[in-house]
Amino acid sequence: MESTTTRRSFYSAAIAGLGGLITAALAVPAAAYLLVRPKSQKQSDFVPAADLTQLTVGKPEEVVFRRTRVDGWRVLNEKSTAWVLRKDDQNVVAFAPQCTHLGCAYHWDEKENNFLCPCHTSTFSIDGKVLSGPAPRPLDRYVTRIDQGKILIGSEIQKA
Ligand code: FES
Repeated sequence: MESTTTRRSFYSAAIAGLGGLITAALAVPAAAYLLVRPKSQKQSDFVPAADLTQLTVGKPEEVVFRRTRVDGWRVLNEKSTAWVLRKDDQNVVAFAPQCTHLGCAYHWDEKENNFLCPCHTSTFSIDGKVLSGPAPRPLDRYVTRIDQGKILIGSEIQKA
């Protein structure tokens, strides 16, 4: 009779201990998820997009560049584009590649000397202003910087 009581108390303690282990195994990652702050990207990150000498003054060029973005615990390396206009040796404008109507990709129409969105035919002037179409506002712009002949494009987008 005494050995049954000992066995029973042993099993009770083992089950309670196992329950505690399972609770800890579930609670520790959940607590870490809730309490540890995810990393976020600084909004002032600039990435090199092109050499200033690659671009012709007054002619917009589509520039492709890569940006590393931290999203929570994931690090993403994404391809991005911008339409960059070199105004002179000190100033560039980089337009975000989406139309401000519904986000289609627009392009520079050399013949018409304006940006044309093929989706609903919005047109934009070389400085991004709406010329025609349903687009509600001028093209959005990236913050840019020029450093040692390199065009740096920031992650921040300025809406007009
Ligand atoms: S998405 Fe460009 S005009 Fe509609």
